[in-house]
Amino acid sequence: MNNTSLDSAKILEAILNANSKNELDDIEQSLFGRKSGSVTLAMKDLQKLDEDARKETAKKLNADKQKFLSELEKKHIEIKTAKKEQMSGTENIDISLSLPSEETGHLHPISQFITNVEEVFGRMGFDVAVGPEIENEELNFDLLNFPKEHAARDSQDVFFIKSNAPEDNKLLLRAHTSPVQIRYMREHKPPFRAIFPGKVYRKDADATHSPMFHQFEGLMIGEDVSLANMKAVMITAIKELISKDAEFRFRTAHFPFVEPGLEVDMRWQGDDDSSREGKWMEVVGCGMVHPNVLENCNIDSKKYQGFAFGFGIERMIMIRDQIPDLRAFFVNDLRFLRQF
Ligand code: PHE
Repeated sequence: MNNTSLDSAKILEAILNANSKNELDDIEQSLFGRKSGSVTLAMKDLQKLDEDARKETAKKLNADKQKFLSELEKKHIEIKTAKKEQMSGTENIDISLSLPSEETGHLHPISQFITNVEEVFGRMGFDVAVGPEIENEELNFDLLNFPKEHAARDSQDVFFIKSNAPEDNKLLLRAHTSPVQIRYMREHKPPFRAIFPGKVYRKDADATHSPMFHQFEGLMIGEDVSLANMKAVMITAIKELISKDAEFRFRTAHFPFVEPGLEVDMRWQGDDDSSREGKWMEVVGCGMVHPNVLENCNIDSKKYQGFAFGFGIERMIMIRDQIPDLRAFFVNDLRFLRQF
């Protein structure tokens, strides 16, 4: 039998009935495959015919081939389109649905608070300065007018650091940010006002004390800075940072580096909230900078005077938000942190 005659009607029918790309690929292969495709073979067999028959058959064969190719192409497009339609029918995207809310992180409450402190004191004209957490006894105590035998120097309270430093001026983790006040006074000419936020270290650990906590101290020195100015700044700061409804009481207190020294207590004005029990809470230590401290920093204490103060940051947040346990700030429990 001669391969040059193809049953073109049957082939066209197969193409038309194909339902998938795979089926079409198979038909294509069976027609045009290089070794055994029926069209390929028919083309080869043309040589076996005599010249007249060859011309005649070649013409028909070419016409069939073109017809197969164009039908295959049509069918390919048809199948592709059908598939797309089917997808858009089932894989719906509802653009009116709201997305699950995205969770973003935020600054730790202590960092947030420090930013707030810098902003509030910035409005009152205060500069911000920081210093090292490792200091020596001279900066942490001596220059701040602590007597050599003062109880605060006890190794029960202070983290001393083993080093080659002289026995009478050992290195330590600073117990307050007051040494930054010394550094600042030595580097600046009055008048000035500045705050000093940072970490401080004391050997103390319970629900309201932590071996590391945050403070910001502050300083305002000039020719006529008075105790009244200090009271005004303390009240403004506490109202801004803790509560507008606070009322205040000033008590005398002793700190070696100030004279007179005061502590400020606050309570919520007209507070009958039983959880606060109208209790006075100590918020800040402050006072007029001791002349010895000014002189230690080469500031003329006859010409200049001013005040210093020191706030505990965790303590302020605890008072503001009624947090009972200071350790919550350091365990990184997201249920706590997310509330800020
Ligand atoms: N340095 C004091 C402390 O850490 C705080 C303080 C600063 C008190 C300035 C008075 C004046 O406890």
